[in-house]
Amino acid sequence: MSDNQRREEMLREMGISPIWRLRAGPGVTVEEPVSEPVTAARKLIAEEPSPPTAPVAATPADVASLDWTSLKACVADCTACALHKGRNKTVFGVGDERANWLFVGEGPGADEDAQGEPFVGQAGKLLDNMLAAINLKRDANVYIANIVKCRPPGNRNPQPDEAAACSPYLKRQIELIRPKLIVALGKVAAVNLLGRDASISSLRGGVHDCGGIPLIVTYHPAYLLRTLPDKAKAWEDLCFAVTTMRGLQSEHAAAN
Ligand code: URA
Ligand code: SF4
Repeated sequence: MSDNQRREEMLREMGISPIWRLRAGPGVTVEEPVSEPVTAARKLIAEEPSPPTAPVAATPADVASLDWTSLKACVADCTACALHKGRNKTVFGVGDERANWLFVGEGPGADEDAQGEPFVGQAGKLLDNMLAAINLKRDANVYIANIVKCRPPGNRNPQPDEAAACSPYLKRQIELIRPKLIVALGKVAAVNLLGRDASISSLRGGVHDCGGIPLIVTYHPAYLLRTLPDKAKAWEDLCFAVTTMRGLQSEHAAAN
């Protein structure tokens, strides 16, 4: 079996074959009458102009229709921005896929890159404590994700082009989860989710709109580890988030 056939079979197994075909080249038109009987796989090989050596990223439009399984497979193979070069593992996100709460951080650090799970290092311990403080825990009505799924070198902030390349994945995760409330952890998460620049201090304490979903902003746990006095402000933010969620749930109850 050729590499191409093997790749085709693997993608079909993962349910994302059509997405790849879409981008495989303009020559792939399965409906076209063919003069000799060839299998779809052989036809694809014959017509593929120059088989890509590395996976091609799905377009944002493709990503918008993916289910969880295909979305995870797509991220695992993604090379849409330069961050893929330095990663060990992609960090897709973790938690309850029907959670009311979505917490969004910036991007994986060294521990997350090694383990493939968000917020598992020191900042993650603090996040777990913050969740526990408001009676939440990862996996139970909470989902945790990041703006970028691959580790920025040296833990620098993701650049705008990297955040933009990765945004269709988070957007699709949000569509699939349909959280009631998003909590942006830090400025990078906040400005990328809101699509505008602003300071954390100007964004704290308000309910913002993220594509129709209420969003509140608090400090990033890694910042809180360095700046202990602001922990009290983060506690205020969490209390505000709980009150906001209660309001949303009673609105929901009243509407039904
Ligand atoms: N910081 C983040 O923003 N995300 C992680 O997953 C870990 C640390
Ligand atoms: Fe793809 Fe996002 Fe990783 Fe960039 S950071 S390679 S867009 S998954």
